[in-house]
Amino acid sequence: MKRLICVAMIVGIVSVLSAGASAQVKKGKTRVLTTKQMMSGLIKPNCAGIGEGLKAAPVDEKAWEDLATKAALLNESSFILMDDGRCPDGDWANASKSLRDGSAAVLTKIEAKDYAGAQEAFKAVTGSCAACHKVHKK
Ligand code: HEC
Repeated sequence: MKRLICVAMIVGIVSVLSAGASAQVKKGKTRVLTTKQMMSGLIKPNCAGIGEGLKAAPVDEKAWEDLATKAALLNESSFILMDDGRCPDGDWANASKSLRDGSAAVLTKIEAKDYAGAQEAFKAVTGSCAACHKVHKK
C-alpha cells in the first residue's frame, strides 16, 4: 500500500512538472498570447520585414523609419519572451538576450542610417531565432 502511494505520488509530481514545462514554452502563465501567435504575428513579420528592407539601401526617410519600427518591435518581443513565466530555461533566456541585444544594435545602425552596419548587426538577430528553435521548436 505504501509503495502504491509512493508510485502515485511520483507519477503525480512528474505529470505536474511536465505540464508546467510545456505550458511555459507554448504560453505564459496568465496572459492569452501563445508563443505560436507571437512568432507568426509579431516576431516573424518584423524579422522578415527587416530582412526584406535591408536587401537594398533604404531610399528615403520613410523607409528608414519603417525599419526602425520593426527593429524596436523585435526588441520589445524579446522582453515578452521573458515575461509571464514563459521562459523555461537558460537556452531560452540566452536566445532572448541575443534577440534583445541584436535588435538594439540593428536599431542603432538604422538610426545612424548605416546600411552595411545594419546588415551586419541583423545576423545576430537571425542567429537568436536559430539558437532558440534548435532547442525549443518541435
Ligand atoms: C526564446 C525562444 C525563441 C526565439 C528567440 C525565437 N523563437 Fe520562434 N519559436 C519558438 C517556439 C517555442 C516556437 C514553437 C511554438 C509552438 O508551436 O507552440 C517557435 C515558432 C516559430 C515560428 C512558427 C510559428 C507557427 O505559426 O507555427 C516562426 C515563423 C518563428 N518561430 C519565427 C521566429 C523568428 C523569425 C525568430 C527570430 C527573429 C524567432 N522565431 C525567435 C521560440 C523562439
